[in-house]
Amino acid sequence: MRGQDRSRLIARHRLPIVAAAATLLLATAALAQMGPEELVGPTPPSEPSAAEPLPRWVTDDVRKMRAYPEQPPVIPHSIEGYQLTVNANRCMTCHKREFTQASGAPMISVTHYMDREGQMLADVSPRRYFCTECHVPQADVQPLVGNTFVDMSDLGVGKAGDE
Ligand code: HEC
Ligand code: HEC
Repeated sequence: MRGQDRSRLIARHRLPIVAAAATLLLATAALAQMGPEELVGPTPPSEPSAAEPLPRWVTDDVRKMRAYPEQPPVIPHSIEGYQLTVNANRCMTCHKREFTQASGAPMISVTHYMDREGQMLADVSPRRYFCTECHVPQADVQPLVGNTFVDMSDLGVGKAGDE
C-alpha cells in the first residue's frame, strides 16, 4: 500500500518537470524559426564556407583611450608569434614590473598582482596570467553588428574639475 502511494506521489511531482521540458522544447523550436541568417550569415550551417582572410592588426604603438575606466586597454602592437602558454609568457618579458624600465612598456596594472582576496603578490596573479583573455589587438574593419555605445561622460554627468 505504502509503495503504491509513493509512486503516485512521485508521478504527481514529475508533472511540472514534464511541463517544463515541453515548454523548453517549444521555445527551442521557436528560436529555430528565427531567421538563421541573422545569427550565422547567409551560408547554411551545414555547408562549408571560406574563412575570411585575417584582418591586418593596428600596430601603430599608440595607446588608445579606454571607453570606460575599467576597460582592459587594447593592444597597440603586434603580438604575432608571442608564446603565451603555461610554461612561457612572452608578454611578461616586457610588461612585468622588473622589465618595464628596459622595455618601455607600461607595467601590468596593480590589480594584476592581486589575488582574489586583494592580497598583493610578487608576480602576476594566476587569474591575470593569460593576457589575451582580456587584452586584444585591434583591426580597422566594419563592425559585425550595430553598436549604440555612448561614452558615460556624454550622458550628462558633471565632470570633476570642470569649473
Ligand atoms: C617587446 C616588448 C613587448 C612585448 C613582448 C609585449 N608588449 Fe605590450 N607593450 C609594449 C610597449 C612598449 C607598449 C607601449 C605602446 C607601444 O609602444 O606599443 C605596450 C603596450 C601594451 C598595451 C597597451 C597598454 C595601454 O595602457 O594602452 C597592452 C594592453 C599590451 N601591451 C599587452 C600586451 C600583451 C597581451 C602582450 C603579449 C601577448 C604584450 N603586450 C607583449 C611592449 C611589449
Ligand atoms: C581578467 C582580465 C585581464 C587579464 C587576464 C589581464 N588583464 Fe591587463 N588589464 C585588465 C583590466 C580590466 C585593466 C584596466 C583596469 C585595471 O588596471 O585593472 C588592465 C590593464 C592593463 C594594463 C595597463 C596598465 C596601466 O597602468 O595603464 C596593461 C599594460 C596590462 N593590463 C597588461 C596585461 C598583461 C601583459 C597581461 C598578462 C600577463 C594582462 N594584462 C592580463 C584586465 C586583464
